[in-house]
Amino acid sequence: MTRGSIFKLLAYAVVAAAVTTAVAVFIPWLPTAATRQADRMWFSIWFAEIIAIVVFAVVAAVLVYCVVEFRAKPGDTSDGPPTHGHTLLEIVWTTIPTILVIAITVAAAIVIHDNGKAGTNPLVVKVVTQQFTYQFEYPNGKTYDILRLPKDRNVKLDLSSKDVIHSFWVPAFGEKSDAVPGIKTSIVVTPTRTGYYPVICTQLCGLGHALMRSEAIVMEQADYDAWYSSADNAAPAAAAGGDDGKSIYTTAGCGACHTFTAAGSAGKIGPSLDNLSADAAKAGQSLNDFISSSITNPDSYLAPGYAKGVMPSTYKTSISGTQLDSLVKYLAENTK
Ligand code: CUA
Repeated sequence: MTRGSIFKLLAYAVVAAAVTTAVAVFIPWLPTAATRQADRMWFSIWFAEIIAIVVFAVVAAVLVYCVVEFRAKPGDTSDGPPTHGHTLLEIVWTTIPTILVIAITVAAAIVIHDNGKAGTNPLVVKVVTQQFTYQFEYPNGKTYDILRLPKDRNVKLDLSSKDVIHSFWVPAFGEKSDAVPGIKTSIVVTPTRTGYYPVICTQLCGLGHALMRSEAIVMEQADYDAWYSSADNAAPAAAAGGDDGKSIYTTAGCGACHTFTAAGSAGKIGPSLDNLSADAAKAGQSLNDFISSSITNPDSYLAPGYAKGVMPSTYKTSISGTQLDSLVKYLAENTK
């Protein structure tokens, strides 16, 4: 090879590397990491990214060089000279990629290992998923529909599902896991930035899937402590035995799908619960029977314009008889 052709090859490689680096760096592909785990994941992504850019630059340079330099002259229909393999070249192009892939694997394995460590005293929050809502249960037994976390503390999120497979994902936290009925899954996050972050379900779990959203709020430890110990967050959980109708309405996730002015919910997946007397009359049932059967056997009567199978049919087992009675009473007393 002449000095000129080496220079050309290098020039092609630099251009290819510059273009791909610009695409990688100037388009915000990743959200700003908000946990220590996300920092490590972003590191492993950039580690693989840089290797990919170098490999691409080499391949693109050789490809462009060959297309330009060895192009057949117009009218030249002769065959090229015969070649018969090149042992050294073949060893090189097998060994280098093998080393690179092993390096990526080792980096990723270290990140996965470190990200699974919850330390000795993590805050454990149970994440209960259900069509189409999240509930976050804290060690004091209280349940909320928004996830609040203190900054700089290891948090173990234990995921479970009451019905179908959902998936818990906060993009800025990096970690993500399915919530599967019957098995326990968990992820560990150590928030490093205060702020509001969207919580997204990433498994197609039914008609309301796209609306299965919540919010994670990362707070300074002192703010978190103040919130956690404040009296006015005392919404007793249905799971922990709270049986007033309004808290059951909240913890069972009714508001995610239904509009009900008395509870301040504005869900749009299911019918509004603000005019249940008129709806009961349409269905030809008494108000209480209509509400009760609509909760426990939702497909027995469908409001006009709403499809079968959207409302989960799990409430007849997931809430107790007493809770059902309070919920029916609460709805009957607060609707028109
Ligand atoms: Cu839950 Cu999609």
